[in-house]
Amino acid sequence: MYNETDLDKIDIAAEPPTEEPARQYYFMAKCREWVKDFEQKNGRLPKSCVVTFGCQMNARDSEKLRGILRETGYVEASEEEADFVIYNTCTVRENANTRVYGRLGQQKPRKKKNPHMMIGLCGCMMQEPEAVEKLKKSYGFVDIIFGTHNIYKFAELVAARLESDRMVIDIWKDTDRIVENLPNERKYAFKSGINIMSGCNNFCSYCIVPYVRGRERSRDPQAIIKEIRRLAADGVSEVMLLGQNVNSYGKTLDTPMTFAGLLQEIEKIDGIRRIRFMTSHPKDLSDELIEVMGNSQKICKHLHLPVQSGSTDILEKMNRRYTKEQYLGLVEKIRKAVPDISLTTDIIVGFPGETEADFEETLDVVRKVRYDSAFTFIYSKRTGTPAAVMENQVPEEVIKRRFDRLLKEVQTIASQACAVHEGTVGEVLVESICDHDPGMVTGRLSNNLLVHFPGGRELIGCYVDVLLKECRGFYYIGEMHRTQKAPV
Ligand code: SAH
Ligand code: SF4
Ligand code: F3S
Repeated sequence: MYNETDLDKIDIAAEPPTEEPARQYYFMAKCREWVKDFEQKNGRLPKSCVVTFGCQMNARDSEKLRGILRETGYVEASEEEADFVIYNTCTVRENANTRVYGRLGQQKPRKKKNPHMMIGLCGCMMQEPEAVEKLKKSYGFVDIIFGTHNIYKFAELVAARLESDRMVIDIWKDTDRIVENLPNERKYAFKSGINIMSGCNNFCSYCIVPYVRGRERSRDPQAIIKEIRRLAADGVSEVMLLGQNVNSYGKTLDTPMTFAGLLQEIEKIDGIRRIRFMTSHPKDLSDELIEVMGNSQKICKHLHLPVQSGSTDILEKMNRRYTKEQYLGLVEKIRKAVPDISLTTDIIVGFPGETEADFEETLDVVRKVRYDSAFTFIYSKRTGTPAAVMENQVPEEVIKRRFDRLLKEVQTIASQACAVHEGTVGEVLVESICDHDPGMVTGRLSNNLLVHFPGGRELIGCYVDVLLKECRGFYYIGEMHRTQKAPV
């Protein structure tokens, strides 16, 4: 929400500055000239739409793209109406890629009819050379392609496209560069994600993320704290700290700092009332972190702790570096320190070599931990990962049957876990008007449970005590108990 530079003061006739972020503000000013020209010719401002696939890291990157577009004068519109559509892609599973090609296919006739239209592609899929080759060959109508490491250069790339007729492609293999103080457009006024690190060094054998997001790098703690202070001053009371493996935060810093240490610093920031984070890798979840979570007033009662499989053999082949017993031991420790914590997880079904006995181990973990919810995925072969060339790939029909059994188990347990809160009063941060009923609002409890209750727009962003009246499987219908409008 904050700008460091007033675009009108920038001399775009001069050479672009070499230092960042000044260089990007220069190109934003250049793009704005083009936007003004468009407005004059067409009697309206150009419309843009950023479509996000994948995880919270991508969602956060999309906010940065939207911030830059807003700064240059674009107005937001739907994908079907936009003059500039940007797809921020994910490649973690095959179907994520397929969806992007499908959307591009839909845009092709629009672009033919409206030659001024632009289509941009960025995100994880663009870090795969095969994907870029395919786009160049079969989707020549795409205007801009860039990757995950140079997203901060968006304005510069748009300016380059506006000045030439050719497809602009800029992909970096990796980077050490983190450019601070660029604009961003938050989806919510009262909550925000914050990248605390990027990349991943774990190389789980099925996973493409370390190849497309590069090596793990932690952001400087002072920059993180400064950003959160600014967000708090701007009305944000809930923060979500983002990284592929937040538990290893700080290990690569010049002055190392633990994730638990960072959390304690963030806890001190006035105006911040809720702290969330994801994702936690079980192998790096320290006793120090468990203790900090147990003592904290602000860290939410929710931990997303992906198990992936319950079989120690499969976990070893996955290169997860923990056993079934170590995982269950960790869960026990956390539950002891934070008794009312809600636990959620990710599970992959059908990893190469997974036997019926291995799968039973996964079901056993689900029954023992009793997750509040779980994301279940069918194993997807990712070219270039060690698992893609493993023998004993599991037949599709076997995977499908296991997946259905797992889903049933997960859902039954999750609805029982959800029901235990019935009749209690919980504090809800109201996020929006309910999608299904305009007379209701929707929000979340500290443990991340979704609650709908009668109320109006004025409650959005407020913390409200709500009586949880009726459990409907994975969410509640509630009733307002008492309102506290101002964040403490
Ligand atoms: N860094 C996070 C997860 C990032 S990807 C972590 O380690 O927990 C989100 C989830 O996608 C993973 O937890 C995993 O369950 C799933 N996933 C990753 N690669 C996959 C693949 N090749 N096939 C199916 N699911 C996969
Ligand atoms: Fe992928 Fe594993 Fe890294 Fe998560 S920790 S992003 S699953 S390699
Ligand atoms: Fe997908 Fe990239 Fe996230 S591959 S899950 S968007 S890090």
